[in-house]
Amino acid sequence: MKVLVVGSGGREHVVCWKLKQDPRVTELFCAPGNGGIASIAECVDIKANEIDKLVSFAKDGKFDLVFIAPEDPLALGLADKLEEEGIRCFGPKANAAIIESSKAFSKSLMRKYGIPTAKYEIFDDETKALEYLETQPMPIVIKCDGLALGKGVIIAQTLDEAKQAVSDMMGDKKFGSAGSTVVIEECMVGPELTILSFSDGNTAVPMISSRDHKRVNDHDEGLNTGGMGAVTPGADMTPDLKKRIQDEIITPTVEALKAEGRPFKGVIYFGLMLTSEGPKVVEYNCRFGDPEVQAILPLLETSLLDIVDAVIDGKLNEIEIKWKNKCSCVVVMASGGYPESYQKGYEITGIDTCGKLVFQAGTALKDGKLVTNGGRVLCVYDEGDTLDEAIDGAYEGVKKINFKDAHYRHDIGRTLG
Ligand code: AMP
Ligand code: GLY
Repeated sequence: MKVLVVGSGGREHVVCWKLKQDPRVTELFCAPGNGGIASIAECVDIKANEIDKLVSFAKDGKFDLVFIAPEDPLALGLADKLEEEGIRCFGPKANAAIIESSKAFSKSLMRKYGIPTAKYEIFDDETKALEYLETQPMPIVIKCDGLALGKGVIIAQTLDEAKQAVSDMMGDKKFGSAGSTVVIEECMVGPELTILSFSDGNTAVPMISSRDHKRVNDHDEGLNTGGMGAVTPGADMTPDLKKRIQDEIITPTVEALKAEGRPFKGVIYFGLMLTSEGPKVVEYNCRFGDPEVQAILPLLETSLLDIVDAVIDGKLNEIEIKWKNKCSCVVVMASGGYPESYQKGYEITGIDTCGKLVFQAGTALKDGKLVTNGGRVLCVYDEGDTLDEAIDGAYEGVKKINFKDAHYRHDIGRTLG
């Protein structure tokens, strides 16, 4: 089989790595890929949001499967266009990917179908949003409606901060058109948990749970990032908690999307908060989480290709998905300065000799050397019978990898955020 994976991060590296383990995958390409992916797949110089170029490349190259990993091409309708051309692809159509590309859409869906989430109001008028804030208790959460690279969410502690956030988004257009509409919602309290779930439009099968660490510094301090590390399991998954998440959140979401004529085929990311009233949805994404999936896929015993086929063909209820009974941890090594400005082009050493699985993100090959080429550079994986073993193992690997100004958190898996 000839397979094309779309994307360039650690998530795409682990997807390529896992797909490649299936002997049916004889030719593997990645667009655009990165320095690490280049060692297991042929990288193609087409960006993930160059939809027409990707479609032509897949069509001309007679690909058997296109795996779309990031949200942008999904929101731009890559799955729809590939289907029009008769090319099999993994990932939802734009009308289902909207669960991530519009927070206003997903909040309205949850309200209509009674799916637990924070109370909220939606505004497209700045004055009305500012007036509403005057009536609300603090802290409060202000979110851009559209895609903003995980940065369009402000947790305001005071009314002044909240007003500033609304003015930045709606008045000053700090996040471009993504902030023309904002969601203002109640601030929930509790540990966070990620549940990724395969969905074939009818059936949803959750993967093992995970927990992401979004703040850039130890003790959950500093700016929000795409994620600085992750562990599995993400919480003590008691049978009761599992059942509530399935019955109150996962199944109703898949059914709601189907009822709305937007069947979801791919991976739904449920960002949850375990509040005193029970699990509630913080956000939906339309894809694997990064770095959560780097902690999850190495524990998957079933071939990813079998699951991909079952999702595309609507047969998820016919397969059994098996997992290793282990805990796992990934620690992200980032460029100093990330998520703000940082330098690129520093040589990276120690990956081949660190003795751990390493999934690369912001890396490139330059004159035969591996160099930094992004904010999140790579992540180091390990697993163990206990979470402590997995965490210690991942950090052993981190200590053996070097590049100038490398930054990583020291408390992945040891805190709740
Ligand atoms: P989102 O992009 O919607 O996932 O938000 C980013 C992060 O902001 C989440 O992972 C939470 O830590 C936090 N957050 C978002 N919404 C809320 C909320 N309603 N209450 C408390 N924290 C929130
Ligand atoms: N790690 C968070 C995300 O992938 O959105």
